[in-house]
Amino acid sequence: MKKDLLKLLDLTGEEIKEILDTADQMKYSQKHGIPHDALRGKTLAMIFEKNSTRTRVSFEVGMYQLGGHALFLSGKESQIGRGEPIEDTARVLSRYCDGIMIRTYSQEEVESLARCATIPVINGLTDFAHPCQVLADLMTIREKMTRLEGLKMAFVGDGNNMANSLIVGGLKCGMDVSVACPEGYDPDPQVLDFAASVEGPRFQLCRSPQEAVADADVVVTDVWASMGQEEERAERAKAFAGYCIDDKLLSYAKPGCMVQHCLPAHRGEEITAQVFEAHADEIFEEAENRLHAQKAVMYLLMK
Ligand code: CP
Ligand code: NVA
Repeated sequence: MKKDLLKLLDLTGEEIKEILDTADQMKYSQKHGIPHDALRGKTLAMIFEKNSTRTRVSFEVGMYQLGGHALFLSGKESQIGRGEPIEDTARVLSRYCDGIMIRTYSQEEVESLARCATIPVINGLTDFAHPCQVLADLMTIREKMTRLEGLKMAFVGDGNNMANSLIVGGLKCGMDVSVACPEGYDPDPQVLDFAASVEGPRFQLCRSPQEAVADADVVVTDVWASMGQEEERAERAKAFAGYCIDDKLLSYAKPGCMVQHCLPAHRGEEITAQVFEAHADEIFEEAENRLHAQKAVMYLLMK
């Protein structure tokens, strides 16, 4: 494995598979009471410059289950909020801790942190990427469908951090990926360049949700206004009209298709309450798998 998990673009398909296999083992051990405290005595610093429920709890609980300890650093309350350079924070935390998880705005900040830290850095979400979430999504899809290769994943909505990571993760794992976004809300150009470099017609970017979802095995969506875009909410609601996952849209997908949502969800916006509840088991399994996937990442990077 590499030193850090900053974005899925940095990983090979084999490395992603190694994480997913380890995550399955972590889940098995946890469910069967098999001790797996490989990170005994180790500490993970968790820097949060944005809100979180799942990421914070799953990293903290995961570290505890691995025999280690996690500490919460709020961006606002630490010296980061008063302008201490991320490069200095990296050098200080490297002397106390064994790993750093960071949730922030800019991907460049996370890359700088990793360049200056001598310990592993894990991206817990930036505006560009959400690799830990997508590892959990891939784990959940593989668990239910028994494979990833050859399946079609459709993402409908904003070309944001989730779309970026799903495109890269899905393609690297051999899935076909189809994305529908309104004009002006496309995925990042770096991600589209990567998708264009993948052999075969395995990626599609279109404007029509029906076209994207056609014959899909898995349909994924995310909020229309991400953290930091709250003031654009009304404007985005207009731009995304017609991009809601409802029963009619799902009728274009394969019968029995899966639905994934990273949460939190806005019922009545990107997904109807009816579709959400019909697929709640898959969606909350996906949330649970954050724990197992991140334990795998921490184990592989910090052991
Ligand atoms: N899906 C996800 O990352 O959730 P939180 O924002 O609650 O961490
Ligand atoms: N795209 C969302 C994901 C939340 C987990 C956001 O960045 O707010």
